[in-house]
This record gives sequence, structure tokens and C-alpha cells, in this order.
Amino acid sequence: MKSAMALIASRGRIVLGIETSCDETAVALVRDDRRVLSAQLFSQLAEHAPFGGIVPEIAARAHLERLDLLIARALEESGVSLGELAAVAATAGPGLIGGLSVGLLTAKMLALVHDKPLIAVNHLEAHALTARFTDGLAFPYLLLLVSGGHCQLQLVHGVGAYSRLGTTLDDAVGEAFDKLAKMLGLGYPGGPKIEAHARNGNPHRFPLPRPMVGEKHCNFSFSGLKTAVRRLVLELGSAALDPQNLADLCASFEQAVAEILADRTRRALARARELTGATPPLVVAGGVAANQRIAAALRALAEEWQVRIVVPPPPLCTDNGTIVAWAGIERLELGLVDPLDVPARPRWPLDPKAEPLLGAGAKGPKA
Ligand code: KG4
Ligand code: ZN
Repeated sequence: MKSAMALIASRGRIVLGIETSCDETAVALVRDDRRVLSAQLFSQLAEHAPFGGIVPEIAARAHLERLDLLIARALEESGVSLGELAAVAATAGPGLIGGLSVGLLTAKMLALVHDKPLIAVNHLEAHALTARFTDGLAFPYLLLLVSGGHCQLQLVHGVGAYSRLGTTLDDAVGEAFDKLAKMLGLGYPGGPKIEAHARNGNPHRFPLPRPMVGEKHCNFSFSGLKTAVRRLVLELGSAALDPQNLADLCASFEQAVAEILADRTRRALARARELTGATPPLVVAGGVAANQRIAAALRALAEEWQVRIVVPPPPLCTDNGTIVAWAGIERLELGLVDPLDVPARPRWPLDPKAEPLLGAGAKGPKA
């Protein structure tokens, strides 16, 4: 019979990943051969929905109430014991400090008690490395991260090595969807609701601005679009809720966003080619990547540039424990472990050399 140690060795290294940076409490046990042994997720959507956005205090409390249970479930489902872990990884930022503290403290406690290495994961890096988990993608590649808290273009050179090519100067793109949905009384989160209405709409009915399109840099801005759409909703008054008007409004908004994202990403591909000498593959991550019109615009762009595009499946694009565990595995392989006094960081840009702009590395309440 195999000894316990031999069994553990043959199973590869297993990392526990903990995610509590925003409104998902998530845990996963992932092995270094990219096998997910268990993934647990509790979405706090219902708790925040009545407020039309995320309430940090409610989020922190919900993480505290659920995290232990999710860890216990993951261990039970996988049959893995804490003693078998190669490391404990937790998101340490950027995000809401209350939630980050719950996850990071839990990870520190487990690491200390079971004498395991601790890995403080940058949430943006977890998104950035997902394409290596799903598709084994080699460095370098261009990452477009589009979520409720972020809108960034990063050139990913390697683990811990990023050049920020662009970021939003105001709202994150998911936030723009959420704000429009709130204006129209469609509820939270807005993206899926806007997309559902947009399906029957005419994307060219309402002329809306495309801020920054055609500009030389790779940054984004959504405030002009948000103001224009608000004006339109006010002008239409109660007619905005007429089903065809609503569908056309949502489709026109989605079309504007898709064109903005494609234009900025096109610019970043060109910039990445200047920097690296070749056009890198494109990776899209974050909740907004689930939007079909946006995904189609980015696929068309990749085709135009003849580059590979990787869009991880929606459960790995939105916040989850698997991508945190995977980032932990990548860092562990490089010996990048952290001391037990590593702090939680509400702001933590991937590229520390990049000029601080509003929206870069920040992740706050989405509404
Ligand atoms: O990545 P995510 O789950 O959470 C973080 O922000 O980290 O992204 C959530 C965001 C929300 O703003 C939501 O409205 C948006 O992604 N979203 C979408 C769609 N599904 C989610 N936006 C547009 N179309 C969608 N289908
Ligand atoms: Zn995220």
C-alpha cells in the first residue's frame, strides 16, 4: 500500500484559494495539474439587491458568516485535509477592506496553525492569470479586464510583471451598466438585465457618444456616455419604459460600450506590438466579458489582428475561488510567498510604475 506521503506527492500540490474582496464569498481547492478538487461560492447578490449596489458593511458581515462553512464544505467534498495543503492563498486586495480582512485573516490563521506558506493574492492578478489556468496561455498577452470595479488594459509579461496600458478615468464599465439599469429601474446587477432587453433592440436607434474613441492613449471614460444616456432617459420620460424604446435604448448603450472597448483594445494591441515586437494574444476577463455583443466585438477585433483571443467561461470570469488558488499555485512555483503580517490593501495596482489615475487598482462599491 502507498504511504500517505507518497499519495500526497502523486496527487501534486494543492492550494486553498479564498476570495472575499467584493460581494462573492468563494473558496476552492486546486491542484497544480489544473484540477479543481472543489469550488464553493456564495453570492451575496440577494443581500445587496435592495440597496441597488454593494454595501461594504453587509458584504463584510456576510463573508464572516459564510467563509468557515465554505472552507469546511470544500475540504469535505474533496476529501483533502488542511495538513495536505501546499499553501493557503487569499485575495489581499484591491477591494473592500472589511471583506479582504475576513478572507486574509482566515488564511493567515490556517497558515499559522497548519504551518503552511501564505500567499497574498492581488485580485487583479487572479483575473490576469486565469487564461493560463483555462488555456495554458504563455506570456506575454494583453489583458482587458472589464468588471463592476475595473476597466483596465494590462500587458502581462509574467507573474507579478505588468505594464498598465490603459485604465478608466471615471467609472468601471460594469458600473456604467449598473448605473443605467438603476436609472431605468431594472434592478441590480444591471449588465445581464440590460443585455436581456437589448436583445430585441435596434443598436443604432439612439445616437450616443463614444468617449475617447480614436484617441492615441489607451484609457477609457464612461462618464460622458452615462450623462448622455441619462439625458435621453429624462427626455423620453415614461416612454423610456415602453418595451421597444427600452430595448432600443439598452441596445444603443451596449453598442456604444462595445465600440469603445474594441477601439481602446485595438489601440492597446498596437502599443503592445511596439513594446514587445509582436502582437500578443488577447485575454478578456471580468463579469462584462459575459456580454455577447461585447464579446463579439472583441472577437472581431482579434480576427482583424489575427491574434488568438481567450475569454474564460463566465464562472471563471466573475469572482471565484479557483482563480485565487491558481494565482497561489503560480506564485508558489516561483517561491513568491508572503509573511504572516502582510497587510490587506484596498488599493493595489498591478503595475506600480503606472501613473495613479482614478479607477486604477481601485475597487469600491459598484453603485
Ligand atoms: O467580475 P464581476 O462579477 O464582479 C466584479 O466587479 O469583480 O462583474 C460584475 C459586473 C457588474 O457590474 C455586472 O453588471 C456586469 O459585470 N455584468 C455584465 C453582464 N454580466 C455581468 N455587464 C454586461 N453584460 C452582461 N451580460
Ligand atoms: Zn473580480
